[in-house]
Order: sequence, then structure tokens, then C-alpha cells
Amino acid sequence: MRKPIIAGNWKMHKTRDESLQFIYSVNEQVPSIDEVDSVICAPFVFLRSLVKRQGENLRIGAQNMHFSENGAFTGEVSPTMLKSIGVTYVIIGHSERRAMYNETDETVNKKLISAFNHGLNPILCVGENLEQREQGLTEEVIGNQLRINLHGLTFNNIENLVIAYEPIWAIGTGKTATSDVAEETCKFIRNTVAELFNEEVAQKMRIQYGGSVKLNNIDELLAQPNIDGALIGGASLDPHDFIKFTYAALKK
Ligand code: PGA
Repeated sequence: MRKPIIAGNWKMHKTRDESLQFIYSVNEQVPSIDEVDSVICAPFVFLRSLVKRQGENLRIGAQNMHFSENGAFTGEVSPTMLKSIGVTYVIIGHSERRAMYNETDETVNKKLISAFNHGLNPILCVGENLEQREQGLTEEVIGNQLRINLHGLTFNNIENLVIAYEPIWAIGTGKTATSDVAEETCKFIRNTVAELFNEEVAQKMRIQYGGSVKLNNIDELLAQPNIDGALIGGASLDPHDFIKFTYAALKK
């Protein structure tokens, strides 16, 4: 019922030539967009050239945006700008931005509302750190993130929302959450959204798992009922691997 979504998060990687080589390699190779959403979230400077070359089954996303349309915000990029160059997705609230660039639950909330108002598809990242997990606070932490992050969104927004569950302790560490742990938390996320909104929209909303997703664990993760896709960092940088991830989603 929910279309799987595989998104690569390049973070601060690749040169222009490398980004173009990537898109030429994957363009015609990913499955039909009728079956899988395949998205590349690239650094701002490459977005326009990637959008211009994207094949019909690939979509391009940004890794962050400001919530305002314009203003005196040196170094920032607005939703209007992203929209005007054909970007269709945007990652909001990645833990690296929360930890290193003062992203708060309140700014994440403003960005989500703004993304929807500008017709962009946000991928909202939530997740707990190792200490929180060890203290048994995972559900409390993620519940709080969701309550603030989703405040004021409409039912229609929620249906179109993608949430990436990314345990911070699993990002870039090689420690993936086991598929059982990932499923348990993704199920908690869906149940919480059902409580905050309703069951119908929560069932339509897609949830990705992210954090050291590799070719050897993607199948197991995607086999879980509440995991509808993956947000993939390091392992998405290789075009051939990215194609394999999108095909893994076809089995969903
Ligand atoms: P990783 O990153 O796959 O390299 O762990 C995931 C992410 O941060 O989105």
C-alpha cells in the first residue's frame, strides 16, 4: 500500500564531476517511479545540475533549508529557491544539523510547515542518542520530537510526510540497529502519529530507517512491516550500490 522510498544522503561529499558521473550511472538504472521513489539528496551547489540531468525515475533533494522565503540570512537557502530549480525533496532535522548547527525541534517544525507550504516533500529525521537508548528513554525522546516537530501540520501533510528513524548511535558507526529494534521504534513512531493525528493518515505516512544501512542489511530492514524505505549515507555514494538499494525496495 505504501510506495517504498530509498533516499541517498550524500552529506558533504563529491565534486561536481563525481556528482555528474553518479547521475549518469544511475539515471536509467533505477526502477520505475511507479514502484519505488528513488531520491538523491545532494549538496546545494550540485542541485541544479542534477535536476537538469535527472532521469524520469529519479528525484533530487536538498539536505536542509531555511524556513523563510527570503531575508537577511547570510549563507542560507530558502524553500522558494529550491522549488525554483526543480528540487522536490528536502531532509529536515538531520541529527548532524541538530547536533552541530543549532537545529531545534521548533526550527524543525517551522521548516516542515514551510516545506509543505512550498510544495516540497520533507524527510523528517528523528532519533535518540546512545545514552538515551541505554537509559530506556528512546520512546520519550522520539515522542517529544514528534509532538513539537509535527505541531500544526494538517492531515494531508502527514499523509505525504516521510519520517526517517535514525538512531544517532547507528549513523556512520557501522552499528546498525537490528531489524527488530528498528521495527519496534518505527512502529512506535507510527502509533504516536496515529495518536497525534489519526490512524488513517498514520498508515499512509512512510517511515524510513537510517543509520549504517548497507547492502547486507537492507533486505532484512525492508522486510519489517513498518519500514517503508531507507535513508542511506555512506553506502549511497557508490552509484552501483545505490541502484542495488533501489532494487532491494522492489521486493517490499
Ligand atoms: P550512514 O548515514 O548511512 O552513513 O550511517 C545515514 C544518515 O545520516 O542519514
